[in-house]
Amino acid sequence: MNQQIPVAVLGATGSVGQRFISLLDGHPWFKVVALAASDRSEGKPYASACRWILSDPMPEWARTMTLVPATPSALTGARIVFSALPADLAKDLEPEFARAGFAVCSNASSYRRDEDVPLLLPEVNADHIQLVTRQRARRGWSGCIMTNPNCTSTGLTVALKALDDQFGLQRAFVVSLQALSGAGYPGVSSLDIIDNVIPNIGGEEAKVEWEPRKMLGKLGPDGVEFAPVVFSAHTNRVAVVDGHIVCASLEFAQPVSPEQAVRALSAYQAPLAARDLPSAPRPAILVRDEADRPQPRLDRMTGRGMTTVVGRVRPDPLFHLKLVVLSHNTIRGAAGGSIYNAELLVQQGLL
Ligand SMILES: NC(=O)c1ccc[n+]([C@@H]2O[C@H](COP(=O)([O-])OP(=O)(O)OC[C@H]3O[C@@H](n4cnc5c(N)ncnc54)[C@H](OP(=O)(O)O)[C@@H]3O)[C@@H](O)[C@H]2O)c1
Repeated sequence: MNQQIPVAVLGATGSVGQRFISLLDGHPWFKVVALAASDRSEGKPYASACRWILSDPMPEWARTMTLVPATPSALTGARIVFSALPADLAKDLEPEFARAGFAVCSNASSYRRDEDVPLLLPEVNADHIQLVTRQRARRGWSGCIMTNPNCTSTGLTVALKALDDQFGLQRAFVVSLQALSGAGYPGVSSLDIIDNVIPNIGGEEAKVEWEPRKMLGKLGPDGVEFAPVVFSAHTNRVAVVDGHIVCASLEFAQPVSPEQAVRALSAYQAPLAARDLPSAPRPAILVRDEADRPQPRLDRMTGRGMTTVVGRVRPDPLFHLKLVVLSHNTIRGAAGGSIYNAELLVQQGLL
């Protein structure tokens, strides 16, 4: 790429916003030209408005950038807008940006269900990006909205795709152990979570039960036909900083042995279009064979936080197979995923 593409981040001071800034630092295709947050932060230099919670240092270029309001007129100059806004705000604001010609890569749940909005994991359903063309024609937008899934659906769907392709997934019973950074900053109070597990995350179970079905579905002339898989999900908040674990019991069209499953997972590759993009996970899936892995603290940064890590693949007395999936929730499950989506948009000539 001869010239870098100017981009902006909405919700730049939050848990996901900070990840965007960290991952966009030195990005080969994208250059951050604007950062936006609420009126609490507007007008302040980023370094003074943001309570930085990442272990990597805040990039120098970000420290002195003045935060602007989350409006299209404040972001002129950017072509792609990475949105880390709360869902209620995203619902109102993201269409304004798309109408004004920006490509919005959103982490929020507001538009994931819309028929003409891609819900994307490039290593799973890169072809669904073609919905952008339909969206533009239908809504008369020169920009677009594309979304990435909930951070718990993310790693789960990557692992399921590898298995579904070969064995035909029918039913999935899943239990999540979700990290604190998934609740944003400052998120869950320490008195609620230390020495504790919270067995409810508002709205999360429904997302984990339908989002994989859209992403594993087929793109046809009338949109995406959802995969006919039945999901049952339990979602729990645990005292881990980053990295969501999902324990899954799976039923297929025919019995599948752990050895067959490990072979399918290890051999899985992203579709060609998504394989060599700058943020592509390398490898897409890593299978660990130790009895006590994956673990969030040890394994979440596999493949720079973009690889889905699977372990404990074994027979299941209820269904056919059980396994454990780990994915970094603010990297693969949020900011890194949005950036990967934007790279696919550019590579497909759809920006
Ligand atoms: N955390 C995850 O693992 C994860 C994963 C996938 C998806 N998501 C989704 O990503 C989005 C962001 O999540 P988060 O965890 O980063 O939340 P967060 O830490 O609470 O950050 C929220 C951000 O939105 C900004 N904001 C709040 N009100 C605003 C307003 N009226 N106008 C403009 N900006 C406003 C905040 O700015 P101020 O600092 O100025 O208040 C802050 O930058 C949510 O939709 C979430 O569901 C999160």
